Order: sequence, then structure tokens, then C-alpha cells
Amino acid sequence: MTENTNVQNQLLSDAEVVQRIFVHIDNGTTDKGKQTWKEPVDNYRSKKRLDAELRILQNRTIVFCPSSALAKPGDYVARDVAGMPLITIRGLDGNVRTFRNACRHRGVQLVNGQGCARSLVCPYHGWAYSLDGSLKSIPHEHGFPDVDKATRGLVAVACYESNGLVFINQHSQANMEQDVSFVPKLIPDGYRLLNSGSQVVKANWKLHLESSLEGYHIRQTHKSTFFPVQYDNLTVIETFGENSRVAFPYQSIEGLRHKKQTNINVNGRLTYVYHLFPNVVISTFPGCMQVVILEPIDESTTRQHSYLVSDIGENETKQLDAVFEGQKFAAKGAIEDLEIVLSAQRGLASGANAFLEFGLFETAIVRLHAHLAKEFERLPKLSGE
Ligand code: FES
Ligand SMILES: [Fe+2]
Repeated sequence: MTENTNVQNQLLSDAEVVQRIFVHIDNGTTDKGKQTWKEPVDNYRSKKRLDAELRILQNRTIVFCPSSALAKPGDYVARDVAGMPLITIRGLDGNVRTFRNACRHRGVQLVNGQGCARSLVCPYHGWAYSLDGSLKSIPHEHGFPDVDKATRGLVAVACYESNGLVFINQHSQANMEQDVSFVPKLIPDGYRLLNSGSQVVKANWKLHLESSLEGYHIRQTHKSTFFPVQYDNLTVIETFGENSRVAFPYQSIEGLRHKKQTNINVNGRLTYVYHLFPNVVISTFPGCMQVVILEPIDESTTRQHSYLVSDIGENETKQLDAVFEGQKFAAKGAIEDLEIVLSAQRGLASGANAFLEFGLFETAIVRLHAHLAKEFERLPKLSGE
């Protein structure tokens, strides 16, 4: 991303971030928050806590996928969200809709993963649904004299597309537009899907998320990958709503020292990591962006859904090769993070710590836990208990 003009004045401009980075480089400093945090280890290990976190996800407007994963009519993404099998699909009218992924005959899931379909046909007995969810046909329909097809379409879940992202809310449709209004336009128009994938990580979703949200570990964890080209413990951390943005500069940022403020292009000179509370991370890389959604499966299992998006055209092979080379490099760092996360997961069971400690450099993580704690308090009210 090269411009931040649409960020609703909540975030600094690229030029302001760069200036703040230079102050830190010159003084050997980094952004520091005002608050430290102790998160009980039980909150990473308890089934009760995980269940509450799933209910928080069920009660919120959250990111489902980038719009570019559903580029054409019939494109769908089907996956579980907070324990609920869902399918999101673009209709012939161009609108994106979400449904519970369960056939209205006997509940079988219609599709899984990603694909493109002209209609959704149940693999069990072949009940067929249109892209707008309506029940189109029942094989041997005379066996179901009581079924009114008009009332047996797929069950809709609130869905809203905005600024290159598709959001859902399993609880109610109320205020989705308002809910997403705090999310700046992170993915510019014209971005397309380069690739996507999912991966199961045997660690609590918060442990996994935490590894993306601070730069305090760059030297130690990423000795021969990121550290030689970045800085240790040098980040600019901003907040917007319940969300955060962490800027990780590359040493190549020095090339901007004497550039006019109006002429700043940070592509390839820093990585922005946006944390969209609670479970989404969007990162900028040279020529592309990555959207990562962490789906908690149980206390110690997370499914990570990743989407790589870019505005580079299919025929621009040289630029695409450069993006994929960059991604190979980023993947090396991601493996280093993953090993640490798996180790931290084992550490939870050691009994050594009653809590995990987060310092003044780890503001984005402090905010994650502080907001989760707040949501946890609000939960009985949200669920109408
Ligand atoms: S369960 Fe879907 S057609 Fe029977
Ligand atoms: Fe890392």
C-alpha cells in the first residue's frame, strides 16, 4: 500500500510514520505504551474461556474474507466461523451473501473450502439452491408433499461487504455498517487474489496472534531472516477503535531520509501490520498484502486462513516473481515464529507461569487482552443471559 489517504484521520500518514521511525533510529528508541499486562495462563488453556471467546466471535461483526476471494458470481468460501459452518457466496446480482452451510433437508454441508458454483447442490440427495440461497429444486419432489420450497431456502447470516473486505455477524444485522465504519480502507480497489490457503496450528489462537504484533523479538527469533534487514525492537504503534497498526521498518527506509514529504512511498520500506480485533491480521509486503484470519478450533488448536492479494496483473510476470520471492522470504520468518509459538504452547503446560507478561513495547497485545477482557465482561448481556 502506498497511500493512506483514506484512513479516516485516525492513523498517521505514511510520511508521519516515517518521520517517527527516523526519530527512533537516531535515538535508539521505539514506541512505548503506558500499560503493561499480565494475562493468566488459564486464559490460554481453559475450555470455558475458549467457549466464551467463541461466543464473543459469534456476537461480533468480524472479517470473513477479502472481497477478492469472491471475485465473480458463484465464487464461494465455505468454512467454520466460531464453530458454525458458513458459506459466503457472490450472487448473480454481484451481492455477497452468507448462509449457514446446512442443507434444509437433513443438514448436510453443501460445499467446503473455496470454489465457483452455478448453484449449490447437496451431495446427499441433490436438493439444489440458487446463489441467492433460495431452494430451487428437489429431486423426486412428489415425496415431499408438505415442503413449501419458498420457505426452505438456506438460512441467511448477516453479511456486509466494505472496502475490499467481507464481514459477517452471526448474531444480528443491526449496525453492521456502523460496526465496520472504524475499519479504514486497507485494501485498495483493483486488488485481486494471488493465492490462499489454510493451515492447522497446534497452539492457542492468541499465542499465535501475539507473534505478529510486536517487534521486540526481531533480533532473537529472526537472527538471519528479518533482523539483518530490519531493526530490533523498533516499531511505531497506533490504535484505531479496538484495533492497532504496528509499523515494522526495513533498513531500506533510509532511502526516504531526504525525500520530500509529499513524495513518500513506503512500499518495500516498511511493513504495516493491522490487527483488526479480535482475530484478523492484515500485513503489507512489497507489491502485495496478506489477510490472515485465525479461527479458534479449541484451546490448543487454531486454523489459519491466509489470502495473498495484489494489484499486479497476471501478465506482469517479473513483478509477480518478485512478489513470490518476497513471500518465500517472509515464509521463512513465519516458520521461525511458528516454532516459537509451538514452544510457548508447550510452556503453558509447564506450570512455570501463572500469567504471561507483556511489556511497554507490546502495546498491540496489551490492547488485545484488555479488549477481550472487556468483551468477556459484556458477554452475559450480549447473549441475553
Ligand atoms: S441432506 Fe441435502 S439433499 Fe438430503
Ligand atoms: Fe516474528
